Parts: sequence; C-alpha cells; structure tokens
Amino acid sequence: MEKVLNYIDNNKQRYQEELVEFLKIPSISDLPEHKADVLKAANWVANSLKEAGMENIRLEETPGHPIVYCDWLNAGEDKPTVLIYGHYDVQPVDPIDEWLTPPFEPTIKEDGKIYARGTSDDKGQLYVHVKALEALLKETGKLPVNVKVIFEGEEEAGSSNLDDFIESHKELLACDTVMISDTEWFADGLPSICYSLRGICFAEVTVTGPFQDLHSGTYGGAVDNPVNVLCTMLGKMKDEYGRITIPGFYDDVLELTEDERAGFKELPFDYAQYCDNLKIKETKGEHTFTTLEQTWARPSFDINGITGGFQGEGAKTIIPAKASAKFSMRLVPHQKAEDIANKVRYHLNAIAPPTVDVDVTILHGGDPVYVERKGEALNAAMEALEEAFKVKPVFMREGGSIPVTGTFQKVLNADPILFGLGLPGDNIHGPNENYDLANFHGGIKAAVLFLEKYGK
Ligand code: BES
Ligand code: MN
Ligand code: MN
Repeated sequence: MEKVLNYIDNNKQRYQEELVEFLKIPSISDLPEHKADVLKAANWVANSLKEAGMENIRLEETPGHPIVYCDWLNAGEDKPTVLIYGHYDVQPVDPIDEWLTPPFEPTIKEDGKIYARGTSDDKGQLYVHVKALEALLKETGKLPVNVKVIFEGEEEAGSSNLDDFIESHKELLACDTVMISDTEWFADGLPSICYSLRGICFAEVTVTGPFQDLHSGTYGGAVDNPVNVLCTMLGKMKDEYGRITIPGFYDDVLELTEDERAGFKELPFDYAQYCDNLKIKETKGEHTFTTLEQTWARPSFDINGITGGFQGEGAKTIIPAKASAKFSMRLVPHQKAEDIANKVRYHLNAIAPPTVDVDVTILHGGDPVYVERKGEALNAAMEALEEAFKVKPVFMREGGSIPVTGTFQKVLNADPILFGLGLPGDNIHGPNENYDLANFHGGIKAAVLFLEKYGK
C-alpha cells in the first residue's frame, strides 16, 4: 500500500492538471446547446479510464447522453465486485455575473480550492476514483477487488435513461456494492458517510383559463384568473404547521427512531450559524422536528418557479390566459416517487375550480434511499476514511437526491456506499462552486484504501 500512496503523492500535480482539463468541458446536460460538450466529457473520461489501465471501455448510447462503462474483473471469483458510479455532467452556471472567476476556466486559489462548475458536483469526486484505479493499476498491476465503473451524463437532468439501462444490463452491472462519491461531509474536517438520501418528484402544473389575455377592467370580477387560481391551489399544499396536505402523502413515511434522532443531535449543528450563513431570520418547517430532521428525514414541497401573466416594466391590466409552476417534492424512505406523482396529480385536479383547466406533468422522479449501517463494505469505507484523513467518520443523512441510487438497490440488489468527499461550502449548483484539493488528494488515498480493505 505504501508505494501506491507514494505514487499518489508523487503525481499530485499531474492529477490536478488533468482535473483542470476535465473541468474546462462545459458538460451541462440539461441545455441542448451543450450536447456536444457532454459527449466530449464522456469521451474525455472514457479515455482517462483507458489510460488508468481499465478494460472493456465503452460508451453506451442512450436517447439522451451516453453512459461510460468499463471494468477490471481479474481479481478472482473469490473477491467482491464494486460498481463505481459518478456523473460527468454539470449544472447550468447562471447567475453568471456572480462568478468571481469564469465557471469553465478552473482557477486554483490561495485557499487551496479549485473553482469551476462541476469541481465538487461531481467531476472532482468522480475523478478521485479514476485516479485511485490508476494508482493501483500502475503501481501493483492489479486491483484488490473486481471493479466495474458506470459514469452517467444525465444526473443533473434527472437520470431519465439510466434506469432503463440498468434494468436491461443486470448481468453486466451485477456487483456486491456500489461506491458513490457525490455527497458532502457534515463539516470541514469531518469525514462522513451518508446512509440516506431523499428521493424526488419533480412536476409542472399549468392552469389555463380564457382563450387569451383579457382586459381586467372589462372582465375582472367575473372571469376567473389562472394566476390567482394557481396561487390559491399552491397555497393549499401545506398547512400552517408545515405539513403537506396531499391526501395519503405521509402514508409510507418511515418514522425516525429515537436512536437516529439521538445520532443527529450528536453532530455539530449550530442553528444560529445556519441561519446566519443563509441570511435568514429563522427557519420554518414542521414544528415538531429539528432542522436536520426536517431536511434529512421529512419530506418537503417546494415551488421552484412560477410563471404567468404580465411581468414586464410598468403596468398592464390583464387577466392572464394561463399560469404555470414547477415544483418538487423531496421524498423520504419508504415513499415512492411514482405513488407520490399519482397522488399529487389527483389532488391538484381535485382542488381545481371548475372555471379552469389544470394539467400536471411529471418531469422526473427518483426514489429515496436508506442503507443499513453495517456490512463489510461499509466497515472498509469507514476505516479507509479514518486512515486517509486521520479523523473518525460520522454517519449522516442527506436532503438531496441521486435518483439512480434507489435503482441500484432495487435492480442490482446492491447497497450503495455514499462515500461523499465534498464539503458544505462547495457551493454546488450555485455560483463559485469549488472543491478543496486536500479532499481531492486525500479522497484518492481513501478510495485506494477502501478497495484494499474490502479485498481483504
Ligand atoms: N450531488 C447531488 C446530490 C446532493 C445534493 C448531494 C446536496 C449532497 C448535497 C446531485 O448531483 C444532485 O444535485 N441531485 C439533484 C437531482 C435532481 C436533479 C433529480 C438534486 O438533488 O436536486
Ligand atoms: Mn451530484
Ligand atoms: Mn448536482
């Protein structure tokens, strides 16, 4: 192991330079004008896996962006198989004016962090594993376990095609555990393993009224207004206690155990600091739950954007012809995205007044994830983090979603290890996204140590 870890130290500079190259490709999956860039990133990362010494590298076409697959299966049948997942696509960059350095001109600053879109989410964390494989293969000629790699280019767009791919390639992807680095530590300097992700149901509701915009003086008071209607309907989705009012919404929610609640309380969470960081006066959630409980273990309903009517300068007196809103619900174990989609569609139609037409479109979904905190792979991951970062890792949950994780559990019957290597200040999805190079470098060592320990 010594010489593999030395190899990582000796190649630190080159590893960073390569990461810079990768980050320069604007692989924004949800913007059609970047389709060629997403393909370029797929090819780039496929090539890096080839140079690392991986075998059977291929790009799998999908109706959307390609899936990168490769493997190295020469460790022997008595050794376990790890499937490494990551995503090489990134979020859009707006608001672009708020970036201090351009999002696709990666910049290493004096704080030891690299700034660019995708540094932490997820190119930097994905590349940790590529470099770990390289170090092992170059220095020892082999890997301690069998390894399969699947990198997708559609995570930020909802992973719409990956579920089908997994379903139709069960044999190819069969594994004992799934290694995922796409989450963050609870705090700087505190390595963390995440054992639950929230799921998501993302939807759009459109309310349509008169055939076109009408004069609000001539018709106001008689003709129902789609923007008013939409606001009224959305305003009913939560009650005064922060509870979501969709009938049956909470039916399958897994209640927190006292043990878990106690575990959350042990984490270094500072409420005043939390509000201060966000520049908010106070939080507003289900009143019988703490902030961590609200964001990790309780479902949520949020309007992501709302459109309708006149929004230009000055005044324009109309009754708009239609209005729409995009909204998402974060789901917790054991809610099902499909079930929630049906319930929300039914409910919105049920509360719609007869004066308008309501249409609900589900844009994407993913089931929540819960992983038992035990087993050989998980123990190896805990030990690897502790050895690489010299701090005992903690367990945490996460409010965000990685839609495909539940599919791995369900279809491949393999539990994921959410071996996150990001930090809370990484600004993922926001301007000035960054990644601490100490986590990149230490993460490569931790990834190597994990494979080594799991192979024993
Ligand atoms: N890496 C994130 C998930 C995440 C978010 C981990 C916050 C840790 C903290 C992932 O790339 C992501 O952004 N997921 C989306 C999924 C959605 C687009 C379907 C999310 O959670 O919004
Ligand atoms: Mn991610
Ligand atoms: Mn993301």
